[in-house]
Amino acid sequence: MLPFEILARKRAGKCLTAEEIGEVVAGATDGSWSDAQLAAFLMAAAIHELEPSETRALTEGMLDSGERWKLDEEIPHLCDKHSTGGVGDKVSLVLAPLVAACGLPVVMLTGRGLGHTGGTADKLEAIPGLVMDFDRAQCLEMLRRLGVAIGVATADIAPADKRLYAIRDQTGTVESLPLITASILSKKLATGASSLVLDVKTGSGAFIPDIVQAERLAKMMVTAANALGCRTSALLTDMSQPLGRWVGHSAEVLEALECLRGEGPEDLEAVTFALSTEVARLEGVDLDQEALKAALSSGDAYEKFMQWALAQGANREWVDRPELTLAPEEFSLVAPRSGFLAAVDTRRLGFLLVEAGGGRAKPGAEIDMGVALRYDVRLGEAIDAGQVLGRLFLRRADDGLGQRFVDCFEIVDQEVSPPPLVGQRIVES
Ligand code: URA
Repeated sequence: MLPFEILARKRAGKCLTAEEIGEVVAGATDGSWSDAQLAAFLMAAAIHELEPSETRALTEGMLDSGERWKLDEEIPHLCDKHSTGGVGDKVSLVLAPLVAACGLPVVMLTGRGLGHTGGTADKLEAIPGLVMDFDRAQCLEMLRRLGVAIGVATADIAPADKRLYAIRDQTGTVESLPLITASILSKKLATGASSLVLDVKTGSGAFIPDIVQAERLAKMMVTAANALGCRTSALLTDMSQPLGRWVGHSAEVLEALECLRGEGPEDLEAVTFALSTEVARLEGVDLDQEALKAALSSGDAYEKFMQWALAQGANREWVDRPELTLAPEEFSLVAPRSGFLAAVDTRRLGFLLVEAGGGRAKPGAEIDMGVALRYDVRLGEAIDAGQVLGRLFLRRADDGLGQRFVDCFEIVDQEVSPPPLVGQRIVES
């Protein structure tokens, strides 16, 4: 079938066959479809959405456009976790060594920062010497030796996604749920983990803030991943405020280490435990709170993180004394009035940190690892006028940025109850 015939069918809202979707992906991979043709497909898919069979075919085609590591053929019970992204979300840094310390192997190919959120790969690169790139052989060796491997998707994984994502970025089709599903899963499923838990964020700091849409995304991803042979479920978790007390690359690594020593913070520990239990459940393993707490208090999870960091190149001096410095200019964010903390514009907080240098404003830009926000309050808390809501660590004098951070906090007279931290669980129906 010619590209324009496939495009005309999708423009008319028809359900494409697996072969037709295969033609689109082949055209994206080998260059035989032009950017204009791919853009037309993406726009038609965004407007009409895709049927589950089309989403599955698109995901599979994109997955097959690059390397598939099939690690489950050599490592049984291999687990993975993915987050749709949030502000202060350092769950992967804690979950991977924690679950591995409990005896289940974990592989994660993580992403770079996107928009207002930081990426796990970027955060871990705050550790001196640490290298995030590895190939299949190195990944397999780490899994055999340590039971944990955390890297980045190489250029050989899902190359079709790279081309399609760049066109989506220019055509206003990034937010399409089936396109997000295929994009994420084409990279995630490439390792061949046997189980995957998805942390789908909702609330002001999430990519999909609306809970109804977030639930639809979770269902689409769970359906497509299970159809492609990876046992997958999702938890909807709250991102209406930063997760934990710190946002910023170096600061989040340090907070993850605190959590691995069993020193909280409570919300980070709760989300990490819920996702750890869920991914173990997919493997038929009962990993309860007590076992997870024991892995923290015994030092096993912390030790696993440090063994992993050393294996991926971290400097021995850092492993022995894991310190990282924050940017030197410190500012307090002061509450302008008394009341109750009703809302936080978490997305804006993330973008302000990017503006301060603590994230990438454009692809390839350098990140200032020391820029950070300390978030000292929680939604629903009573606030006194003049109270410190948080602190900023910047590389430069304040120049009015602090006030813009304060404007992200909404304080009202009436008591408010915060949304639950861990919401619905979405399983294959
Ligand atoms: N992350 C991805 O990799 N792709 C998307 O489409 C959205 C988030």
